[in-house]
Formats: sequence, structure tokens, C-alpha cells
Amino acid sequence: MARIVGGISTSHIPAIGNAIAKGLQQEPYWKPFFDGYPPVYEWLDRVKPDVAVIVYNDHGLNFFLNSMPTFAIGAAAEYRNEDEGWGLRPLPPFPGDPKFSWHVIESLVADEFDITICQDLKVDHGFAVPMSLLFGGKGKWPVRTIPLEVNTVQHPLPTPARCYKLGQALGRAIESYSQDLKVVVVGTGGMSHQLEGKRAGFINKEFDLYCMQKIVTDPKALTKYTIPELVELAGSQGPELIMWLIMRGALRGRVTKLHSNYHIPISNTGAGLLLLENAA
Ligand code: DHB
Ligand code: FE
Repeated sequence: MARIVGGISTSHIPAIGNAIAKGLQQEPYWKPFFDGYPPVYEWLDRVKPDVAVIVYNDHGLNFFLNSMPTFAIGAAAEYRNEDEGWGLRPLPPFPGDPKFSWHVIESLVADEFDITICQDLKVDHGFAVPMSLLFGGKGKWPVRTIPLEVNTVQHPLPTPARCYKLGQALGRAIESYSQDLKVVVVGTGGMSHQLEGKRAGFINKEFDLYCMQKIVTDPKALTKYTIPELVELAGSQGPELIMWLIMRGALRGRVTKLHSNYHIPISNTGAGLLLLENAA
């Protein structure tokens, strides 16, 4: 059976993708951010997951206001990124696993999550930047991917409580797949940030650190927030935390925090990183 070996959550700020492309990892601005990642690379090298489920939010590349699913999932053999306006380079196509995707879809819909099915899906920085950060630089992507997309663009957004439940259903879906695969679930986005308006540049370090702690030990505490409360506490893009809650919901075993890092600011954002192991 497929097994969820762990969860990772990381910010997906486009500037990170450009810093990787330009090799700026050792520059003073970037070093404290990229120095957070080697323990995650060591874990990935040791555990060698076969498949990564990437829970992310599209920012207007594949979905726009004319047609906005609340939750969507890829069922394609490969996924391509495009530059949605941040100057990001196209990356080699990301391999999919259609058979596994269809299993997850069957299971989610049977579990009352009527997710939009995408046999063709362009992935933006929310997906591509974490892929480069976690799995890049190896010549060939070392994992097959399943993109799971969440609306954070057009209100109403799904509540944190709903997202946590989707994560639990995702965990059941993955663990009921008959192939012996090691799966890592990645939640991208966050932490606090606001890119526009009067509070542009708003970051709430205290709240970010509270979330990083609670997501490990007491994720249900975070499901009590409403989206407007998250906007108030963490800025207009702060609700990207819901992707972290989906990741956490999928980990249904004994969860141990192996590593974390938090650095502000990267661009306009509190950049958080969390590595959680999920033991049977
Ligand atoms: C930034 C952060 C994001 O999450 C995003 O989607 C785009 C930009 C930023 O801080 O620049
Ligand atoms: Fe974002």
C-alpha cells in the first residue's frame, strides 16, 4: 500500500525561483533562507519518496475569475509551468502519475469532496517554486507529482476547517492506494504577507511562529479561524496557510517535527519551512 512518509510546508515566493535560477543562494540576503533547507534535502535523500502531492494555490495562471474551482486536482501525465508575470523561467516538465491521481479522485469524491478534475493543468509559482526548492538541481525530477490546487484568489475561500478535513480525506485516499509507494505531501504558500493596498508589506512574526508550533502539536486550534480573521492577522495573502492545514490533515500517523526554519522578510513575506515525519 502507499504510505505517507512525511509532510513539508514551505513558502512559494516567486523571488525564490529567480534566486535559484541566478544562483544567489550564498548572497547575504538569501543565505539565511536557503540555509534552512539542507536538513530537508538530507531527509529526502534518505527517505526517497516516489511521489509528491503538491498542495498549492494557483495565482491566475491556470484558473481565473471567469471559472474558479474551490479545489482542483491534476490527472495528467505531465505538468508544465509558465511565467504568470514574475519573470520565472520555464522548467523541465513535471512528471505526473495519472493512475494514482485517478485513485485519489475516486476516493475524494466517494468521501464527499467533489474536486474539479484536470487532465490538463498549467502550474504556476505556487507549485514550481517549491518543486525547484525541494527537488531541483538533480537533472531530472526525482518524484512523480500530483498537484492539488486550492482557491485563494476569489472569495469566498474554503475555510481552514474544511481544508483540514480535505487533508484528512487526502490522507485516506493516499493510504488506500494498492501500490507500494512512499508519498510526501507538500503544503505551499504563506506565511503572513500582504502584497497590495494600505497594509502592503504587513508581516506578523508572532502569529507565524504560533502557527508553526500549532500546526505540529494542535492543528485543530488553527481550524477555528475564519478567512477574514486570517486576513486580519496575517495579511490579505495570509490565508495561504490553508495549504499547510491540508498537508497536516493528511498526516494521520504519529507526527514528529524534524526541522523548521523561519526567516523574514523574503520579498514581502514571512518565509516558513517545516518538515514533519509521519510514522505508522
Ligand atoms: C510573494 C508571495 C507570494 O505568496 C506570492 O504568491 C507572490 C509574491 C512575495 O512576497 O513577493
Ligand atoms: Fe502566493
